Amino acid sequence: MRVYEVMDGIKKYRFGIPISTDAIVLEGHEIDNGNLKYLTIESDTDFKLKYRMNEGDQVFGLGENQKGINKRGGVFEAYCSDDPIHTPDKRSLYGAHNFLMIHGIQSFGVFIDYPGRIIFDIGFNNKNELEITIDDNNLDLYIIDGNSVREIVSKFLKIIGKSYVPPKWAFGFQQCRWSYRDEQEVEEVADSFIKYDIPCDSIYLDIDYMDDFKDFTISEERFPDFKSFVRKVKEKGFRLIPIIDAGVKIERDYDIYEEGVRNQYFCVDEDGNSFTAAVWPGRVHFPDFLNKDVRKWFGEKYKLLTDCGIEGFWNDMNEPAIFYTERGLKEAIELVEKSKNENLNIYSFFKLTDAFKELSNNDKDYKSFYHNIDGKFVNHDKVHNIYGYNMTRAAAEGFEQIESNKRFLIFSRASYIGMHRYGGIWTGDNYSWWEHILLNIKMMPSLNMCGFLYSGADTGGFSGDANAQLLIRWTQFSLFTPLFRNHSAMGTRKQEPYAFDIESMDILRETIRLRYALLPYIYSEYMKAARKHDVYFAPLLFEYDDKYSKHVENQLLVGDSLMAAPVYEENAVGRHVWLPEEMLLWKVTNYNERNLEVIDRGHQFIDIDINEIPLFIRKNKMIILGKHANSVEELETLEINVIAFVDSRAAYTYYDDDGITYDFNQGIYSEIVIDIEKVDRDYEINIHNKGNKQVERINFDIVDMSGNITKKSVKVYRAK
Ligand code: GLC
Repeated sequence: MRVYEVMDGIKKYRFGIPISTDAIVLEGHEIDNGNLKYLTIESDTDFKLKYRMNEGDQVFGLGENQKGINKRGGVFEAYCSDDPIHTPDKRSLYGAHNFLMIHGIQSFGVFIDYPGRIIFDIGFNNKNELEITIDDNNLDLYIIDGNSVREIVSKFLKIIGKSYVPPKWAFGFQQCRWSYRDEQEVEEVADSFIKYDIPCDSIYLDIDYMDDFKDFTISEERFPDFKSFVRKVKEKGFRLIPIIDAGVKIERDYDIYEEGVRNQYFCVDEDGNSFTAAVWPGRVHFPDFLNKDVRKWFGEKYKLLTDCGIEGFWNDMNEPAIFYTERGLKEAIELVEKSKNENLNIYSFFKLTDAFKELSNNDKDYKSFYHNIDGKFVNHDKVHNIYGYNMTRAAAEGFEQIESNKRFLIFSRASYIGMHRYGGIWTGDNYSWWEHILLNIKMMPSLNMCGFLYSGADTGGFSGDANAQLLIRWTQFSLFTPLFRNHSAMGTRKQEPYAFDIESMDILRETIRLRYALLPYIYSEYMKAARKHDVYFAPLLFEYDDKYSKHVENQLLVGDSLMAAPVYEENAVGRHVWLPEEMLLWKVTNYNERNLEVIDRGHQFIDIDINEIPLFIRKNKMIILGKHANSVEELETLEINVIAFVDSRAAYTYYDDDGITYDFNQGIYSEIVIDIEKVDRDYEINIHNKGNKQVERINFDIVDMSGNITKKSVKVYRAK
């Protein structure tokens, strides 16, 4: 074991010769003190780490996973999985986020940088034992000390590097479905948003835009003049976002396939031949994204679409998902043949059905192909969790070549720690289940702790049929998530915001309008989190240390000033909320109305009608509002509104930038510092405009502890 000091309070323990994942951006230096803190190592065949948990210890992190924000009691597996049925018993979803934090008498963070399979048993087999089993003994283990969970997270976010920043338009509402199949269907969607006056920035192209599911092709039949069509839809106010899948179809004369074979860019089997599996188009090869030449090659292919005016993508099926391989299919078919004349009993019948169930995403297949990492052949199983990561990295590196100072929208399904520097993620194929709104709420802060700020779920649910109520309640939560996208699967009931009755559409319109009106705050908070190694969504215990706040899992802090307490139960007319301090409740039905009410500290039942969105503004904090528009680019923020809840003094730094370039990295952005101080019975407002943002006027609604509203309007002077 070699020990490194990565930064103050973070040590790295290196075992064996780990495969580099590039999860961490800080190297650190080697030191002599080799004692592993907190954990004990037990290795026989497996590499096992153990920690005896104290009774009240909580365990946070693990990003995209089932169960609560506190992961205690669960068992989880880091192995990116294409599993579309997210029931509570599932041990892994699409991402592998091996960072967790123990919070209790001793608080510390652990990150296991190993790209293969890891099992985290967090008091499942033995309620007080944390046991981490890694199926290899070549790995880097990081131990992070800190005085609070927030500090531990922030240190971790520092060593994994700053978050990806999408273009500002990607904070607008986005509409997806598998699939809007052709020009006509896409236009119908665009026209409906216009007709019903619902804000929307992007419309998605799922797999059917391609020619026979071939990456970087466009069906000529369904999109005969793609470039003009992209322009036409953009003129209507919408960007088109195509999907890119990991598997490349095996087809003679298909250039991507031919180039891949010619240059040996695909993963190979034991005999060194391109490995074959099947996904949407049937048989495919998988580009070896772990090889940097392959990343460069694949990344540049995105230009075929950016040349048509495309500015954003979603990378899918990159766990990689495998429907079947020839091996699995052959074995299953042979079993059918054999079973034909058999009297299938309890054993043979299940063996037969399992042979088909286990065709997809089978471990045997993942163990049967190889990557070429700097000339060394590495079994896929050992690096499984960094495959999707490197596909998305390929895209991001490609965009840098294509137009280095332009922000593109990119997010992925599979991911690993570190991928957050290259793109966002969505949480995959959820269901139109109420339970999945709650899962979405719980997952967001865990993802943030692992660096993934640009994320969100399929609003309304992907599989299954949504009713209007579910879509409304879900949208009322998703309006806080940076990625705000409605998506549903083929064969399910339509779930665009206008797909139900008029009353529901009206509510959804107002909900989406609130998102656009809140965008100055949402963007400001996102950017501050991204630039300062912080989270955007946090559990209450990040800010409050009373005994209830420690355990609240269904309310979230959203940025610095807001608390969200969404309704996630069918037919609920309100919900219980824990208020760690007095807060200002704004029940929004229409964001132009200010029905503001001070709610006392304590356990409260808040009535929340289907058309109401409860926003809680924290004490001595404020939110920034603009006016909605039908797209982010049309937002006009010359005049902004502030709603502040002031006991003594509140200050807020409102960040903004051009929203399209990376100039902010060169210091080109603006910050307006707003300071409100209560002086006698009035308020003194100071505004300090740093940077070049044009805000001419700020209108204030300042609410005191008794609920009295003071209105003010202040002219803003340009920074000198
Ligand atoms: C996968 C994706 C889903 C997409 C579908 C078709 O299931 O997770 O979002 O719609 O494939 O491409």
